[in-house]
Amino acid sequence: MTWDALVGRARRAMTTAGFAYVEGGAGRESTMRANRDAFESWQLVPRVLRDVSRRDTSIELFGRTIPAPLLLGPVGVASMAHPDGDVAVARAAAATGVPMVFSNQASKPMEECAAVMGDAPRWFQLYWSTVDELVSSFLARAEKCGCEAVVVTLDTTMLGWRGRDLDLGSLPFARGLGIAQYTSDPVFQRLAAERPADPRPRPTPGAIRTLLDMSRAHPGRFLDNLRSPLPAAAVRTFLETYSRPSISWDDLAWLREQTSLPIVLKGVLHPDDARLALDHGVDGLVVSTHGGRQVDGSVGALDALPAVVAAVDGRIPVLLDSGVRGGADVLKAVALGATAVLLGRPWVYGLAAGGEAGVREVIENVLAELDLTLGLVGATTIAEAADITLVRRGALVPG
Ligand SMILES: Cc1cc2nc3c(=O)[nH]c(=O)nc-3n(C[C@H](O)[C@H](O)[C@H](O)COP(=O)(O)O)c2cc1C
Repeated sequence: MTWDALVGRARRAMTTAGFAYVEGGAGRESTMRANRDAFESWQLVPRVLRDVSRRDTSIELFGRTIPAPLLLGPVGVASMAHPDGDVAVARAAAATGVPMVFSNQASKPMEECAAVMGDAPRWFQLYWSTVDELVSSFLARAEKCGCEAVVVTLDTTMLGWRGRDLDLGSLPFARGLGIAQYTSDPVFQRLAAERPADPRPRPTPGAIRTLLDMSRAHPGRFLDNLRSPLPAAAVRTFLETYSRPSISWDDLAWLREQTSLPIVLKGVLHPDDARLALDHGVDGLVVSTHGGRQVDGSVGALDALPAVVAAVDGRIPVLLDSGVRGGADVLKAVALGATAVLLGRPWVYGLAAGGEAGVREVIENVLAELDLTLGLVGATTIAEAADITLVRRGALVPG
């Protein structure tokens, strides 16, 4: 139930490199602290003597009623938390009705996740590749998988400066982890197969470990993969094409042509970008610092929220992530104008600690705390909680 105990169990269940990848942030990790400090410094101001005997936490988002203003955010390389990876997460999400956002860097193809979700809601998160044809292919697959929105993550056109991973010399993708959306994609498979063969690296212990990891992660039989040049070709193709730092506002028109799904921009913090997003016909925003993993010393997400909400002025949904740890956090974000929030690290730790059941437990605990706290602040619906007078900025308690 407590955060520290959950993190402790996850740490014990994961490898050192796996845990460092999930837990770590950019630089001195001051943005991670800013995310939490923001939640600590905004305080709820409960109301009393209101009939809260009946409550409803559900909301409507893009035409779909969901149980709470809560989604599972896209988190890559879930296989480092649990071998069932994203499929376990998909099952837990479907069981609770909380939408899951499939990560572009998933460990399992989106089709495998969709197959266990029935009619439960799911979205797809996109990293904009240098290869347009691959972007189109991902979007077409997402539509076929029943995804109801596309989240375009904009704060990771380059990977942030992450000291913990650098110290360990660890980059999961370079070992073939977290690239299942690619290796399952026909366009990507063609690109990887067309690639001229690379010279085999010298057989150092590190190179052999990498070869084993890549062969295990690649689709098909492990022994066949060991002898095949394809797993290494896939990793190299991925590293060369995964991101296009040149994308700009003008490119959104092209994206719009590729899909009829709502387009949600993730990683918006500046109110001027929120205005530009409106100008470009975007359907939603996620105010996010990527969990403090990209820009060190950035504004905490919850602190950035009010200005973005003011700029958007109710025209499109504004979601938020980065630092959400419990139901009371969800309410603070709602009171400050968020339509919904995304959970990140909490579900990963649940996955590490207990697989599908662990994710489910984390979700259910957040939902239960949200429902209770909603009533305890004197509200019966999320619309009632979307009330700026229910929060005030307090002094920051060093924590
Ligand atoms: C291990 C890890 C992997 C992540 N992978 C992705 C990803 O593939 N795509 C993406 O858009 N965001 C990714 N994120 C960012 C999350 O979607 C979200 O913004 C972040 O986890 C929120 O911060 P919090 O977990 O501290 O609340 C990742 C975050 C973590 C911790």
